[in-house]
Amino acid sequence: MSEIDSLSNQALADIDAATTPEALETLRVALLGKSGSITAQLKALGALPGDQRKAAGEAINRARDAIGSALSTRKVALEDAALDAKLASQTIDVTLPGRDGARGGVHPISRTLERIADIFGRLGYELADGPEIEDDWHNFEALNFPPHHPARAMHDTFYFGDGRLLRTHTSGVQVRYMGEHAPPLRMIAAGKVYRSDSDQTHSPMFHQVEGLLVDEHATFADLKGTLSEFVRAFFERDFEMRFRPSYFPFVEPGAEVDIAWQQADGSTRWLEVLGCGMVHPNVLKAVGIDPERYTGFAFGLGVERFAMLRYGVDDLRAFFDNDVRFLRQFA
Ligand code: PHE
Repeated sequence: MSEIDSLSNQALADIDAATTPEALETLRVALLGKSGSITAQLKALGALPGDQRKAAGEAINRARDAIGSALSTRKVALEDAALDAKLASQTIDVTLPGRDGARGGVHPISRTLERIADIFGRLGYELADGPEIEDDWHNFEALNFPPHHPARAMHDTFYFGDGRLLRTHTSGVQVRYMGEHAPPLRMIAAGKVYRSDSDQTHSPMFHQVEGLLVDEHATFADLKGTLSEFVRAFFERDFEMRFRPSYFPFVEPGAEVDIAWQQADGSTRWLEVLGCGMVHPNVLKAVGIDPERYTGFAFGLGVERFAMLRYGVDDLRAFFDNDVRFLRQFA
């Protein structure tokens, strides 16, 4: 009997001391397994004299039950502890930002287009669109470029065999828009234009933004005010601006606008940023608007030029090489 008691006490102490489920399993086999020590005690019962057998049997059974329940209690405790440890080691801070994948960015030209459209959108200009493959009438004739007019030579046009062409400017959208909307009207159009020209500051495809306003009392002063406000909003600073008389067949008077650009060495350079003017009466007539009642102004700007100035890029071609090291700087 005392052997069973000490065996049982030792077993319970060992169970308590076990720190892993594996150690616990080893103990279970050593105690209750087929050749375990408690099992051996039960087997030895038969050798006892009959009067001792019953009491010894009961003691062994009690020990076995106690050991069995100690094993399962300890097992649950160890499993709980393991789960707690796992949870503690795997805590996640749900307030941390997510892991970043490789992310693209908006191309600097698209970004500039959006910025320009957004500024004019806030001034009430509606965004309009026209085809890049244009006909002669919209690109030239309705804009007061008669056939064989020398001003046509200002544009190095890409022609298709059927007389259509790649639009050389976005001014054709003015014609389309006025054909579909009655004044008063305000529109802005942005997109690709094409000229057979290529060097550090010219690419055969580039982007323009066209603006047009037609109303009963639109004046050159309104045009100047609108463009100064725009330039200030776009560059987020004030510039000295100069309106230099210039010729475009579809405006009269026409002007080119220069801004005084601060150079890195402190000197100032006049940079041409856009063309503009009062819509020519012939253009209004071509789209059925009465030039005695309505006046309008129009302007066209090179998007690459604005992007180069805003971002400090000195070679236009960088925008079209699509070198990711360049593009990444805008992401
Ligand atoms: N279309 C002209 C160009 O491409 C720019 C312009 C637009 C000038 C509108 C005057 C008015 O050079």
